[in-house]
Amino acid sequence: MDRGLVQKDALVIRSFKTFFSPDQIEAYQRGVMNYRYRGVLCNKSPLDLAIYLRLLEDVKPATIFEIGSKAGGSALLFRDFARTLGLDAAVVSIDVAVPQLSIDGVRFLEGDVRDLKATFDAHRLDQLPHPWLVVEDSAHTAEGCSAALALFARVLSPGEWLVMEDGVLEDLGLSAQYAGGPNAAIAQFFAAHPGVFEIGTQYCDMFGMQATYNPNGYLMRTAAAFLPPGT
Ligand SMILES: C[S@@+](CC[C@H](N)C(=O)[O-])C[C@H]1O[C@@H](n2cnc3c(N)ncnc32)[C@H](O)[C@@H]1O
Repeated sequence: MDRGLVQKDALVIRSFKTFFSPDQIEAYQRGVMNYRYRGVLCNKSPLDLAIYLRLLEDVKPATIFEIGSKAGGSALLFRDFARTLGLDAAVVSIDVAVPQLSIDGVRFLEGDVRDLKATFDAHRLDQLPHPWLVVEDSAHTAEGCSAALALFARVLSPGEWLVMEDGVLEDLGLSAQYAGGPNAAIAQFFAAHPGVFEIGTQYCDMFGMQATYNPNGYLMRTAAAFLPPGT
């Protein structure tokens, strides 16, 4: 098998190994965990900030869904990035614990990644304008990530994007705490539903192979039918 490929759950998928070497990653991670945007904690990797800018420019979302608000810094940043690019995009940020922050153009809603349908139904989020961009940055458990993939496979239109954040947890030696985390969820989803999402290698590899906190995590919904078990 090629060095760049790994066998996960009977599917050959690109390796999730990131660009970061073990001696770099801890210092980089400290920076990410302490980063503030306009004074608000914002746990984004700087490489991914540049990638997101390009993705926003390419996709031109009308609605940005973020799952995992934390302090609200990334929602504020997405709103500002969109405005800088001249996009009239609404940001909807969902978390089990909503931040005490009010930002024009951002709605903070309570919700659980394991049951986003309840939040979508309660707030009629399915009515929000397309194109959509989804950033899943919440629990990082394989269960939560899988639930997000299943929900958004149903509601995203072809050509819309979901970013599964923080597969880098595996390189940080933390994935066991998350039952395999985002990487396991992506690998399992791709094995069970091949062709439903396509990996955006132009984003994952923009600055080098998997030079991102989100290895194989920039995912475009294709036109393929999504047929969950029992349908
Ligand atoms: C990594 S932080 C989000 C970081 C933020 N997006 C940023 O870039 O600054 C994860 C967030 O997910 C939330 N969270 C944890 N479990 C969750 C769940 N089951 N559903 C929704 N949100 C959850 C936590 O409350 C926390 O605020």
